[in-house]
Amino acid sequence: MTGRSSFLIVANRLAVDRTIEPDGTASWRRSPGGLVTAIAPVLQRRHGAWVGWHGAADERLKPFEHDGMELIPVPLTAEEVELYYEGFSNATLWPLYHDVVAPPVFEREMWECYRRVNERFAEAAAAAADDGAMVWVQDYQLQLVPAMLRKLRPDLRIGFFLHIPFPPVELFWRLPWRKDLVEGLLGADLVGFQLPGGASNFRMLCRRLLGLPYKGNEIFLDDRVVRTQAFPISVDFSALDTLVREPHIVARAKEIRVELGDPEHVLLGVDRLDYTKGIGQRLEAFGELLKDGSLSPGEAVFVQIATPSRERVDEYRRLRDDIELQVGRINGEHASLGYQPIQYFHQSYAHDELAALYLTADVMVVTPLRDGMNLVAKEYISCHHDLHGGLVLSEFAGAADELRQAYLVNPYDVEDVKRQMMSAMRATPHELARRMRTMRRRVSTYDVDRWASEFLTALESPASQPATRRSASWRSG
Ligand code: ADP
Ligand code: F6P
Repeated sequence: MTGRSSFLIVANRLAVDRTIEPDGTASWRRSPGGLVTAIAPVLQRRHGAWVGWHGAADERLKPFEHDGMELIPVPLTAEEVELYYEGFSNATLWPLYHDVVAPPVFEREMWECYRRVNERFAEAAAAAADDGAMVWVQDYQLQLVPAMLRKLRPDLRIGFFLHIPFPPVELFWRLPWRKDLVEGLLGADLVGFQLPGGASNFRMLCRRLLGLPYKGNEIFLDDRVVRTQAFPISVDFSALDTLVREPHIVARAKEIRVELGDPEHVLLGVDRLDYTKGIGQRLEAFGELLKDGSLSPGEAVFVQIATPSRERVDEYRRLRDDIELQVGRINGEHASLGYQPIQYFHQSYAHDELAALYLTADVMVVTPLRDGMNLVAKEYISCHHDLHGGLVLSEFAGAADELRQAYLVNPYDVEDVKRQMMSAMRATPHELARRMRTMRRRVSTYDVDRWASEFLTALESPASQPATRRSASWRSG
């Protein structure tokens, strides 16, 4: 390890998770979720370090290198995992920020622990950052870190990016600790959101809650200006595009189709097993298509990958039971010897296998009830240089703002989901190619590198002087 870094990522999770095998040996596995997918290639291309939790409780580890990244582990006790990670992050903030699709839990003990753990991350970042370093804090688990870090190290340039939606003022207002969270975020020089709507919700909140004026993208504090802006996150398009052209991936994709019984249509869902992802809604639509005869027996197979996630949080436990019951019911009604309409996997997958699955899929079904962006949708597009394949995409995913040529659906409307799934399956190759070409143009030009460099360029460039505050509007941006 080299000492202090001039570029730091601070995120709840490191890029890799420590897993203990049944025989007691420890190994590293890539952490789940879109944040790691997006940030890992950015850090690999820039020299810097990543401060984060390594995924195991009650264990202190020294900084180490992995896959070209310098990783600095932050320890969490079992109690902190329960109260800070499973509790305040994933039972309070996660549902609240995702349109309360599940009821958020408000508990003081969880909040206290969230504050304590954020302090620890801020201290770890302060110790790892070189003089005047650029520090990029990630996501809802660490919203207090920017202000805490500024207090410890006023010399740093601090950016924050929220990977999930920022809710409307009326929802955020319910939080008993709303003021602390907003003040925490305002410790950053630049606060980034997935969509312009999130940035504008935040500015509105700062005005209503703290009486802060803003103009355009800038919020005026007494002594500083905080910039707020949308930076839609993306994927490593060229890496995926190159990978799926490799002979072993092409061969594996063909093999998968054969293993699935060579149906006319392969539909695919790839998600963390999360109640925001609308997995139940898409399976219900597929089940109805089988039941009402729109799909003939054996015509289509739905592969649903449901990556294990937050398994000790009650809502996630219930969700797993519900989905597995639903899969069992649909398969029970429609399977025959040698044909199982839904292939369900509660497992993690290697990068190559996932790419082969994307390449196999004729229709990708992405139906979240609310999602900050959804990288799976963009990964699917990146894998189809053959211009084959239709994307069924929820209007409530951030990605729908960019991927207008998808088969857009309201996931709450089962008839709509059925209709669009059928349209994608029945579309002519010419129609699919027309849509896919436009979406690929978008994802290839606005890839993860562009996302990161636009954010970091904005973070580097100076904001207006606080004096401009006098001319700031109190009403609109
Ligand atoms: P979220 O961040 O909410 O999990 P995204 O769709 O934005 O949702 O990102 C999910 C990321 O996790 C994608 O990069 C996807 O490839 C990856 N992923 C999802 N399921 C698996 C799995 N079973 N194995 C490996 N990677 C997975
Ligand atoms: O992208 C949203 C996000 O919550 C990330 O912050 C997180 O790393 C990922 O999903 C996976 O969730 P978790 O870290 O809770 O497994």
